[in-house]
Amino acid sequence: MSSVSLRGIEKRFGAVEVIRGIDLTVDSGEFVVFVGPSGCGKSTLLRLIAGLEHISGGELLIGDRMVNEVQASRRGVAMVFQSYALYPHLTVRDNMGFGLKVRKVPVAERDRRVADAASTLKLEALLDRYPRELSGGQRQRVAIGRAIVGNPDVFLFDEPLSNLDAELRVHMRAEIAALHKRLAATMVYVTHDQIEAMTLADKIVVLRDGRIEQVGSPRELYESPANVFVAQFIGSPKMNVLPVALARLLSDGSPAPAAAESVGIRPEHITVTTAGDGVLKGTVSLCEYTGAVTLLHVALPGEQNCLVLHDDKQTPAIGSQVGLTADAASLHYFDSRGEAIRMAAG
Ligand SMILES: Nc1ncnc2c1ncn2[C@@H]1O[C@H](COP(=O)(O)OP(=O)(O)OP(=O)(O)O)[C@@H](O)[C@H]1O
Ligand SMILES: [Mg+2]
Repeated sequence: MSSVSLRGIEKRFGAVEVIRGIDLTVDSGEFVVFVGPSGCGKSTLLRLIAGLEHISGGELLIGDRMVNEVQASRRGVAMVFQSYALYPHLTVRDNMGFGLKVRKVPVAERDRRVADAASTLKLEALLDRYPRELSGGQRQRVAIGRAIVGNPDVFLFDEPLSNLDAELRVHMRAEIAALHKRLAATMVYVTHDQIEAMTLADKIVVLRDGRIEQVGSPRELYESPANVFVAQFIGSPKMNVLPVALARLLSDGSPAPAAAESVGIRPEHITVTTAGDGVLKGTVSLCEYTGAVTLLHVALPGEQNCLVLHDDKQTPAIGSQVGLTADAASLHYFDSRGEAIRMAAG
């Protein structure tokens, strides 16, 4: 296993600048997840690390070796794609061993490594099948197996679970976490799935428009987002961001910092009470019942809308007036540029 260091990494396709100076270190053995809106450059960044795209600027190090000009097959990385990219005319065994065959690894060694990977991924019984004879989850395991047999220093995953149904995703997510533990490998993982990001990552990198918005542990990003963008990107349903004037009512009169323009509050941190003096009043416009919780849409004064996660068995009727309150400690304040205002510890 190896660390991966990106120093001022840039990527241009012709005149279009897609990656705009990324500085990041992935420690050896760390599990790092890239998240960000569609088109922000997640896959491009992964492909730059893999050596599938040429780097336009900056330095890429794997371990302490600068690899900008090193070809993909010599970087010690393996990439797993959303599409699996298996060869349809090869069996599971031959799909997994293909890269080793190309590299002229002797047959006995190749068979041993394929058998090891098959045992790790519980694919032993499927080695003689063809991809068309496998379920989606099994195919994805073969794709991961193909990465494992090469014994890479770094694993790169680009939305590996997106094609699977919900139940299988949960299962494969747990398998990837277990695999990371067992191999103690360095992994960089792209996903759109909040739960995957939060549960798998040691460190999440939030990207926007080719730049890093924030890097931190899942808890750091959830509890202390650096700006409105990260605040609303991490967490589901997303954080409410309201004019700061509403903060005082929401949190029982606690004063906002002078520079605050807006206040953020997560739907799960708001409590519904009866409408009355000294609380933020609103009108329930929609109730989305999901079983364990109900997501309330509450219309506030000034055409603001607020989402509230409500776990009470009693759901207020649509059109009814409710009061909303929150603990002052759960409020996030942002300045006119959308940057978080850090409150003095106390
Ligand atoms: N070969 C290319 N030539 C020109 N532009 C490209 C090329 N590959 C990607 N881009 C552009 O680079 C930007 C980043 O693309 P990328 O695939 O990295 O996004 P992403 O974050 O992975 O998005 P998604 O979440 O939709 O997969 C996009 O605007 C895309 O159109
Ligand atoms: Mg992508």
